[in-house]
Amino acid sequence: MLAQAAANTSPHIVIKPSGLALGADIVGADIPNLSEAGMEVIRQALADHLVVRFRAAAPSDRDFQTFAARLGPLRGSPDYTRSRPVYMADAPLVTVISNIVEAGQSVGEHGDGELNWHTDLGFEDEPAGFTFLLAREVPASGGNTHFANMYRAGDALPAVLRTRVERLRCKHQASHNAQGGKRPGYQDIETDDPREMPGPVHPLLRTHPLTGRKALYLGRRFGAYVPGLPLARSEALLDELWAHAALPENVWAQEWQVGDLVVWDNRCTMHRRDSFRGQGNRRMHRLVTRGERPV
Ligand code: SIN
Repeated sequence: MLAQAAANTSPHIVIKPSGLALGADIVGADIPNLSEAGMEVIRQALADHLVVRFRAAAPSDRDFQTFAARLGPLRGSPDYTRSRPVYMADAPLVTVISNIVEAGQSVGEHGDGELNWHTDLGFEDEPAGFTFLLAREVPASGGNTHFANMYRAGDALPAVLRTRVERLRCKHQASHNAQGGKRPGYQDIETDDPREMPGPVHPLLRTHPLTGRKALYLGRRFGAYVPGLPLARSEALLDELWAHAALPENVWAQEWQVGDLVVWDNRCTMHRRDSFRGQGNRRMHRLVTRGERPV
C-alpha cells in the first residue's frame, strides 16, 4: 500500500511516495497531453523514487510510445526475444511480455514462471536505461513485480566491503536468459563456468549519469564473475553482495491492475517477478530506453 503522504508538485500532478525504500504513484498526469513542465515533474519523481506508477493510465500504444520517448531514446527489441512477430504497426517499438499462446505461437516473452532478480539488458555493453510496462491483461493472482533500491543496497554495505567493491568489476554473462536457456547466437556454448562465459564487464558500483549517486550494480546472479579473483572468492563475494541487495527493507512490490503503467530506472534498481502459473493470462506492453556504458 502506498503511504498517504502526498507532495503537491503542480496544480495537476501529485506525487504519492510509497513510504518504502522506493516507488511512488503519479496522480493526475494526462499521459498523451503532458506539458514539458509535467515531464520535468515525472523525471524528478523518477530520480527521487526510482520506480513510478500511473495507476489505471491505460494509454493507447501510440501514446505509450510517444510518452516513453520523451524520457529517452527508445531501443527496439533485441533479436533474441520472441516479441518480433507481435510488433504493433502504430507503435513499432512496443514489445510484449506474456504467457499467451495464439495459434500455437507465443505472444511475447517470459511465459508464466518466476523471474529472478535482474536488471534489464545488463549483459549488453550499454544496458537499458528506463523500462516501461503497461498492463493490458492481468492474472487472477500472482505475477507481482518486486523492485529493489540499489542505491540503498550500496550505501548499506559495511565500510570495508564497500571500499573493496569500489575497485572491482563484474562480468554479466550474455549467453543464458533469466530461465537458464541459451539465447540465440549462443547455442554452441557448453560451459557453465562463469570465468569462461561471454559477457561485458561492468563496475560493481556504478555512478548514475543523472543523479551522480552510486548504486550497487549486480545484473543477474547466474554466471556472474569478478575478473581477477579465483572462482571461489568471486562466488563468495557475489553471494555476500547479493545477500545485501534485496533485503525486505529495500523492496517495494507492484500488484498489477489492468491499465497500470510502471516505469523504472535500471541503473539504480533490480526487479523480479512472481510466478502466476495457472492463474490466467498476463499481457504487458513494454518499452525500453537506451542506456549508457556503466561507469
Ligand atoms: C521483466 O523482468 O522484464 C518483466 C517483469 C514482469 O513481467 O513483471
